[in-house]
Amino acid sequence: MPSSRAFEDMWRDLAPVGRSASSGGYFRQPWASAETELRAWFAEACASRGLTVETDGIGNQVAWWEPSTPSDVPGVLTGSHLDSVLDGGAYDGPLGVVSALAAVDVLRDRGFEPSRPLGLGVFVEEEGSRFGRACLGSRLVTGATTWDEARELRDRDGVFLADAVADAGLDPSAGLLSVDRVGTFVELHVEQGRDLVDREVAVGLASEIWPHGRWRFDFAGQANHAGTTRMEDRRDPMLTCAMTVLAANKQARLAGQRATFGRLAVEPNGTNAVPSRVTAWLDARASSDDGLATMVAEISRQADDRAGRDGTSLVVTPESVSGSVGFDPDLAARLARLGDWPVVPTQAGHDAGILSDAGIPTAMLFVRNPTGVSHSPDEHAETADCLAGVDALADVLAELAGA
Ligand code: GLV
Ligand code: MN
Ligand code: MN
Ligand code: MN
Repeated sequence: MPSSRAFEDMWRDLAPVGRSASSGGYFRQPWASAETELRAWFAEACASRGLTVETDGIGNQVAWWEPSTPSDVPGVLTGSHLDSVLDGGAYDGPLGVVSALAAVDVLRDRGFEPSRPLGLGVFVEEEGSRFGRACLGSRLVTGATTWDEARELRDRDGVFLADAVADAGLDPSAGLLSVDRVGTFVELHVEQGRDLVDREVAVGLASEIWPHGRWRFDFAGQANHAGTTRMEDRRDPMLTCAMTVLAANKQARLAGQRATFGRLAVEPNGTNAVPSRVTAWLDARASSDDGLATMVAEISRQADDRAGRDGTSLVVTPESVSGSVGFDPDLAARLARLGDWPVVPTQAGHDAGILSDAGIPTAMLFVRNPTGVSHSPDEHAETADCLAGVDALADVLAELAGA
C-alpha cells in the first residue's frame, strides 16, 4: 500500500477550492476562478515533482515524465478532470488527477524509471456543466469537435465560450494539446454506481461506457393570468413539460435505461402567470445505440403528442451525444492480470471515452464508492480504497510504461 501522506496532503489542499459553505458541494466551473486556481495547483504539483506542465490554448494540461534515454515511442497518459458539476462531489475528476500524481510518487519510491514517456493530464470542461457539451476539452484535442463549432457556445449568463476562455487568460490560437504522443490513456475515476460495493472490492476496471446524450426540449405556449384564465383555456408549456418528464421516466423504466430531466428554464418564471416558454434538458442513457435512439424518439413522440393536446409547441434539439464505447479488450485483459479487479460497465461519460473513440487504446480504473452517490455533495470514497486505487494505477503504469 502506498504511503498515504502525499495523497492526503493533496486532498487537503484541494478541499476548500470551489466548495460551497452551505451544501459542502463543489462549484468548479470551467474557466472560472476555482478551476483556474486548480490549474495553477496542478502545475505546481507537477513542478514540485520536477515535471513541466504544458497548458494548451483552452486550458488542457499535460506534464511528461521522460525516460532517461529520450524516446519517440508513443507515451502513456493518465489523468482526469478538475471541473465539477454544479454542487458536485469532491471525487469525480480530482481523484484521477491526485491519484496520477500519487502514482508517480509510488513509482519513484519503487525506483521505477519509465522506458517510454509517462504523462499526467487534465482535460478541461469534462462535465459540460457550463457550456452544455460534455468532455469539451478532450473533444477539441481529438478533433471530435472543432474550435469553430465550439467558440459560439454560450453559458447560462450568455457568455460566449471564446470570451470565457480569453477571460481565463488563455488563447486558443496558441494551439491545443497534441494527442499524437498518447499511445495509451488510463483514467482512474471514483465509481459512480454500486457495482464495486456489491462485489465487495475496492478497485475495478471498465469494460464499456453506455451511449448517452443531452437533448434540449423547447416547449412554447401562451403566457396568461394565473387567476383569470380558465383551466380549459390555457396553452401551458409547463403542463406539457411535466407530462414529458413522467413519460421519460416511464420509458426508461420499461426499457431498463436511464432518463433524467435535471435542468429547467421557465419564462417569465413568475408565480402568478402561466409561462410562455419552458426549456428542459433530457439526459438519456442506454445500453445500446439503438436502445438510446429508440427511447429518445419515443419520449419525443409522446411529448409532441401531448403538445398537440395542450395547444403548445415543441422543438427537440440534440446538444451533446456520445455513442457506445467499448474499451480496448486486449488492454483490459492485460491489465486484469495485474490485480483481482472485476471488469464492469459504466453509465457515466468520461474523457476516456473520447480518447477511445479517437482510436487510442484506453482503460479505466474505478475506485469503490460506498453509497454509489455521485454528482452530489454526498459522493464519497474511503481513503483506504483511494490508496488501493493509487497502488493499482502505479502497477498499471509500470506495466504500460516500463521496459
Ligand atoms: C459526466 O460525468 C456524465 O456522465 O454526465
Ligand atoms: Mn468525471
Ligand atoms: Mn461527472
Ligand atoms: Mn464524467
